[in-house]
Amino acid sequence: MNSPSAPVVARAPGRVNLIGEHTDYNGGLCLPFAIGLATIAAVRPRGDDQLRVTSREAVPGDPHWQEYVVGVLAELRRIGWEVPGLDIDLVSTLPLGGGLASSAALECAVATAIAGLLGVPLDGAGRRLLAEACRRAETEHVGAPTGGMDQLAAMLGSDGHALLIDFADPDSPVTAPVSFPVAEDGLVLLVTDTRVRHVLADGDGGYAQRRREYARGHPRRRRHVVTENARVRDAVDAIGARAWARLGALMTASHASLRDDYEVSVPQLDQVVDTGLEAGALGARMTGGGFGGCALTLVAADRAGVVREAVDAAYAERGWAPPRHHLVEPGPGAEVLRGIG
Ligand code: GLA
Repeated sequence: MNSPSAPVVARAPGRVNLIGEHTDYNGGLCLPFAIGLATIAAVRPRGDDQLRVTSREAVPGDPHWQEYVVGVLAELRRIGWEVPGLDIDLVSTLPLGGGLASSAALECAVATAIAGLLGVPLDGAGRRLLAEACRRAETEHVGAPTGGMDQLAAMLGSDGHALLIDFADPDSPVTAPVSFPVAEDGLVLLVTDTRVRHVLADGDGGYAQRRREYARGHPRRRRHVVTENARVRDAVDAIGARAWARLGALMTASHASLRDDYEVSVPQLDQVVDTGLEAGALGARMTGGGFGGCALTLVAADRAGVVREAVDAAYAERGWAPPRHHLVEPGPGAEVLRGIG
């Protein structure tokens, strides 16, 4: 029987990564920001030790989605939290497996709701603790060999800011908010979902394979990481100087490196980038793990419609399913929407 008490409700955002891709698991730099698309978790103690997870709509699409939740509970118990049996209800506006860190949003929404239920404060240290527990849920329980960027972006994102993360010490990544006032200068960030899906938890998949290749010292993979870290530093300088054309050029260079040196792009992503640039965008790149998912385009607000239409037309010409577009801007990290009582 369900407990009659009202649920604690929390929201955790997806993210886009502005630049710094495939660098988090090898001691590098990245610059993601939290977005408005999000997952919401409502949790309610059951009065027994069972876990029941339901989803309003197709949160799945990722066959592992329930394992993420089980992993979060296990990790929170491992660090000493007394998590009771729960009913958890999920709703998401994030495309699953779409390169916007949907799995991290799911983990962080559940963890944040449980923190709310147990009265654990969500200060900076609390947020880092949850980000780490959620990362471990993904790597240790689901077996997705991902880095820590997505969970940190979901927990530490803030309005109007990107988050610079330095993984030089992977056990204690250093973070710094970077003011990112693109909208004030008449620019927008367009996310284009290619509708090509990937599953990072696949041990034989491209993501895991790239990690192994990097670890073995594969020269082209190494070159990507070295040049990408330099681009992240330059991007932070460009943002500070509001040098948006420079930022755009760095994004485009990042895409070329991911396509040619790291080899994680697909024709649909390349098409969005090439067409966007031809239609007047300042820069464009794949965002997230690759092998499908989303591309991110930096474009003047009054050119965004032209870019969208050009990309749609290019897709139609090739007989590909129409892409989906979203305008994104840096928003807040995970939060409790409704607490106890
Ligand atoms: C996925 C992973 C992240 C990161 C990116 C690539 O989103 O979850 O940890 O490795 O790919 O930058």
